[in-house]
Amino acid sequence: MGVQLRDATDADAALLARLHADSWRAAYRGIFRDQFLDHEADAERLAHWRERLSSADWRQILIAEDPDPAGFCAAYLDSAGRCDALIDNLHVRPNLRGRGLGPLLLGRMVERLIAAGHRSMFLWVFTDNAPALRFYQSLGCTLEDPAEIEVFGSVTREARCVWRDLPTLANACRARVR
Ligand SMILES: CC(C)(COP(=O)(O)OP(=O)(O)OC[C@H]1O[C@@H](n2cnc3c(N)ncnc32)[C@H](O)[C@@H]1OP(=O)(O)O)[C@@H](O)C(=O)NCCC(=O)NCCS
Repeated sequence: MGVQLRDATDADAALLARLHADSWRAAYRGIFRDQFLDHEADAERLAHWRERLSSADWRQILIAEDPDPAGFCAAYLDSAGRCDALIDNLHVRPNLRGRGLGPLLLGRMVERLIAAGHRSMFLWVFTDNAPALRFYQSLGCTLEDPAEIEVFGSVTREARCVWRDLPTLANACRARVR
């Protein structure tokens, strides 16, 4: 596979915002409001990524390129949770899904987390996002009870996916890279 992974830089806010909003429009239609997805998400994500990239907080943000931007994965520390690393985003460009890029990004991120001394991680998934839920369950996550949340003016449900054995997850990701 000709895909390269690199760390995001301060100059990547617009690239990440575009990837993120495009992915939401493909995956979150019916979960987020159409008005938000079609008219507000681009500006909201640009503000989000400008803020994230200028913050001094610990973070790991990987971008996949083939050579055009193909996906990204971001991880942060979670000081309040029972697990110590939060995968906040994993998105593959809609026309490139199903080719192993998600496992490639997630697996590389998990290796980073292990190298940084983390022992477990979690992420939040919308329960209506069935393909993503299947994807994470196929990688061995423990799914906690979902709860209702309001996000960008939409009411939906999300559940925590938890992994407490990162080396096993890294192996599972490696086995899925095509
Ligand atoms: C979830 C996601 C990161 C997985 O990455 P990926 O690169 O598609 O992962 P894989 O290549 O291992 O494919 C995962 C499965 O989804 C299937 N799939 C999902 N969307 C697909 C699509 N548009 N085209 C083809 N296959 C698709 C694959 O066939 C595969 O199923 P299999 O394991 O039975 O073969 C990616 O599909 C994605 O970006 N989804 C939208 C954003 C999202 O929901 N992110 C998670 C937020 S919590």
